Amino acid sequence: VSLQKDNFNRFLQEQIDYYQARAGEYDEWFLRQGRYDRGPENNRRWFSELEAIRQKLDSFGPRGSVLELACGTGLWTQYLLKYADHITAVDAVSQVLALNRERNHSSKVAYVRADIFDWQPDRQYDVVFFSFWLSHISPERFTSFWGKVGLALRPGGRVFFIDSRYESTSTATDHRLKDKGSIIADRWLNDGRKFQIVKVFYDSADLSRKLVESGWDCTIDETENYFYCGYGLRAQAL
Ligand SMILES: C[S@@+](CC[C@H](N)C(=O)[O-])C[C@H]1O[C@@H](n2cnc3c(N)ncnc32)[C@H](O)[C@@H]1O
Repeated sequence: VSLQKDNFNRFLQEQIDYYQARAGEYDEWFLRQGRYDRGPENNRRWFSELEAIRQKLDSFGPRGSVLELACGTGLWTQYLLKYADHITAVDAVSQVLALNRERNHSSKVAYVRADIFDWQPDRQYDVVFFSFWLSHISPERFTSFWGKVGLALRPGGRVFFIDSRYESTSTATDHRLKDKGSIIADRWLNDGRKFQIVKVFYDSADLSRKLVESGWDCTIDETENYFYCGYGLRAQAL
């Protein structure tokens, strides 16, 4: 087990290096540009499914104090800002934090550069939010990560998360999706540099079961092809 953990640690570090190197081209994925442009029909589906997720977030209403984990360049921070009184936005990569600040320039956001696996919440929040982060957590850290989310929430506090479904046209045209069960993904940057990162594709029934086992009461909704979102709260006091 410890050997497996050491191996995952290598990929978790490479993942930070990858997002650091990718900071300036990260949004191309979200905006379906360059290597992520999958043609008008797929792009139309992508944006309409994104809109469906955004509406779920609207219904959820991430009000009060919000902790955003792995906030990235701020593509979702901007929507959280419509509801939140205050956001603590954590990411390991200074370049993406700088882009997030540039996009949102709001005094309501406090930025924290930290590795989530080392970081401890210093207060309790009304909401914990993370998008496209759960899939980058190696399986042996799943339970401890959710424990940390629990510690970061006030009693009755809520969680909302978004992630990728297993769909080949989600990623770049020069990326090959491995088997659904594969945990390590090969990624390339525009300049051809290669990285290996953690990417876990959850089946929503399996994920629901794992969350129940970890003491969470969450609903998971899927869009037709690309995304799922989950929202809920702790089922039991820690
Ligand atoms: C797929 S991106 C998602 C970004 C953003 N949430 C979004 O939806 O656009 C993953 C983010 O996780 C960050 N990250 C990777 N490993 C991390 C770690 N160990 N601790 C904190 N952030 C990390 C990366 O810098 C990157 O911004």
